[in-house]
Amino acid sequence: MIKVAILGYGTVGSGVFEIIRENKDLIAANAGEEIEVKYVLDLRDFPGDPCENVLVHDYNIILEDPEVEIVIEVMGGLKPAYDFVKAALDAGKSVCTSNKELVAKHGAELIRIAKSHNRNFLFEASVGGGIPIIRPINMHITADKICEITGILNGTTNYILTKMDKEGADFASTLKQAQDLGYAERNPEADIEGFDAVRKIAILASLAKGKTVDFEEIYTEGISNITDIDFKYAKTMNKSIKLLGKCKNEDDGVVASVAPRLLSQEHPLYNVNGVVNGILVRGNMVGDLVFIGSGAGKLPTASAVVSDVVDAVRHLNVSTTVMWDEEKLELEDFSKSKK
Ligand code: HSE
Repeated sequence: MIKVAILGYGTVGSGVFEIIRENKDLIAANAGEEIEVKYVLDLRDFPGDPCENVLVHDYNIILEDPEVEIVIEVMGGLKPAYDFVKAALDAGKSVCTSNKELVAKHGAELIRIAKSHNRNFLFEASVGGGIPIIRPINMHITADKICEITGILNGTTNYILTKMDKEGADFASTLKQAQDLGYAERNPEADIEGFDAVRKIAILASLAKGKTVDFEEIYTEGISNITDIDFKYAKTMNKSIKLLGKCKNEDDGVVASVAPRLLSQEHPLYNVNGVVNGILVRGNMVGDLVFIGSGAGKLPTASAVVSDVVDAVRHLNVSTTVMWDEEKLELEDFSKSKK
């Protein structure tokens, strides 16, 4: 029996708790051990909720309990997530997280600490919600130079753009719907202005290049200036508008960006609509691989987190996390790039 602790009982945390309970037997079969949630950490109380009996408010209880092998961080944000995760890794526990801010900012360091203890720092849910993309890049596309990654990486903005395009919906009310459905970030500016997507493309680019791609150096433009007139123009050209994160190996270096782009009907991501994410990975041997699926929301994101927990149980004392260097990769100036 492997004991785990969940940090944060919000949308994703409650999803993780639910999946571990609902799919208990098959998760045990896949992991090779039963998994028990020994603690849920949250500042709030949840009277009558199934988590009530394991709810704690003090992180030290988790940190100091040697029975807890895996900490699941689904609080989001950097504070206190960074300190909590670092402390868990330093205490020799594995960590699984959905926190893209944390991975984009401190991924290289946290991977290094996990490795130094033969433990894992896993973050499948930090990019693409329920879509397996971190593990494929780390474990499967390993015989190729990755030439390009292009992704619809934010479900909220894709939901808004799709509704504007297909139904002529207005921006503000569609954003409100995305928030009500639990897709949007607490501060929706993170979605709308591309700050969420840029962290995700930085994580993918760092994995692909083996060095830290600093999200702060990536050209970032959101969708707040897109209007119905843009969609009318796009339609006259038989194109759609998508917020794309891109990272390309050009002859003179690596170029990365997040910006709204016109996509033609032949593009593999043209039909990726709604809260769905789509990621195209181009390898120099395998060619194009396209990953499409639920990019946000409680159960898809929690499913990816629990898949990491299964992986961490399978590799309890072996670090399988692929490292990327803490050294920063210098990016080419996007404005000078032709594409
Ligand atoms: N707000 C994010 C999105 C959640 O809409 O994609 C998943 O990271």
